[in-house]
Amino acid sequence: MIFQKVKGLRGEITVPGDKSISHRAVMFGALAKGTTEIANFLQGADCLSTIACFRQMGIKIENTPERILVHGKGLHGLKKPDCILDVGNSGTTTRLISGILSGQDFEVSLTGDDSIQSRPMGRIIRPLTEMGAKIESIRQNGCAPLTIRPGKLHAIHYNSPVASAQVKSCVLLAGMYAQDGSTSVTEPALSRNHTELMLSYFGADITSEGTTASILPEPHLTAQKVEVPGDISSAAYFIAAALMVPGSEVLIRDVGINPTRDGILRVVRAMGGNIELLNERTMGGEPAADLLVRHSSLHGTVIEGSLIPALIDELPMIAILAACAEGTTVIRNAEELKVKESNRLDIMVTELARMGADIEGTDDGMIIRGGRPLYGAAIDSRLDHRIAMSFAVAGLAAEGQTEILRADCVDISYPGFYRDLEKLTVN
Ligand code: S3P
Repeated sequence: MIFQKVKGLRGEITVPGDKSISHRAVMFGALAKGTTEIANFLQGADCLSTIACFRQMGIKIENTPERILVHGKGLHGLKKPDCILDVGNSGTTTRLISGILSGQDFEVSLTGDDSIQSRPMGRIIRPLTEMGAKIESIRQNGCAPLTIRPGKLHAIHYNSPVASAQVKSCVLLAGMYAQDGSTSVTEPALSRNHTELMLSYFGADITSEGTTASILPEPHLTAQKVEVPGDISSAAYFIAAALMVPGSEVLIRDVGINPTRDGILRVVRAMGGNIELLNERTMGGEPAADLLVRHSSLHGTVIEGSLIPALIDELPMIAILAACAEGTTVIRNAEELKVKESNRLDIMVTELARMGADIEGTDDGMIIRGGRPLYGAAIDSRLDHRIAMSFAVAGLAAEGQTEILRADCVDISYPGFYRDLEKLTVN
């Protein structure tokens, strides 16, 4: 896939549904009694992996272009799958489903692609084991494939060493199957809270205070209608493109702006970006708005601490934005970037430098001295969807030609991304 410098991005766009919320709507729908109806579900490969796993466990799920119907069977309605569950490339599926599977009365194994088989699962194996789950990394390397056998779960209070919504959600979901009391998770900083919001909407007794979330066992989950807002992580590519390319003005409709996800808006404003929130409202129990973004001259900033979990998936795109801004941007406390679908920290440093940026990797982030022109290059996505989309956008601002290799991986979170980008560009 080839990209060239463009004269601007103009027009309106609606990005696909939020990935985190789409996964959860299927999972919680499967564990609820009755039929859950999901509108604006993300038809990306990751969310389709979640659907496939629950179908393997006997849940009827109808997938039409307008809506998804999940015919839930209640907390104890899953059946043993005939084969090993395939989670594909999806960390969210792997970690959340492991919490659910720990509470079942059957043995099950799961695995995914090469990326999933090298991502850390010790972070869920430890708390689940503490709860009494029988979960094992088959190769004993702390990664998938995993086998989960029936075990009696008890409630714990888990002090998570990482701010991770996947770890938090995994423990809370297992907590629904605990035989005693309330299970809680405290994080070093608040990660996305879609599980807390949606489980409460489905009827669970779940509370949040500061960075601690707690759940009581054996909730009666009831099917709901869920309208999934647009994914701010997908909107990020259009936000960045419009800010970076002179002559741009883009309206992005129906974007989820949950405060645990809106770090990119805060950073872009701190950098001097012109971004307006219009029509603020609620979609599916989540705050949403239309975003009007105009080309802006940007300056560097510092991104660190509790802001990091609120923009963790946007950091590759933000690094490119920082390379196009005047002055220095420092990103700290972002070591989690190393264990995403790829090592995003190393890849951003290597590939942005190849495009001419002044960028230095640190132990937990990067230092970007912005303002140098970017030059087109051939960039291998490493099969990481967010690397592919970030560098496609860089290609719209760089001199010469940028080629994205193994570009199809965008289907993980945004099928149709290149078509949408093309639709907005003015040549
Ligand atoms: C997600 C949580 C984040 C994020 C991922 C989706 C979720 O991961 O990077 O894309 O849906 O809970 P971590 O929990 O590992 O930070």
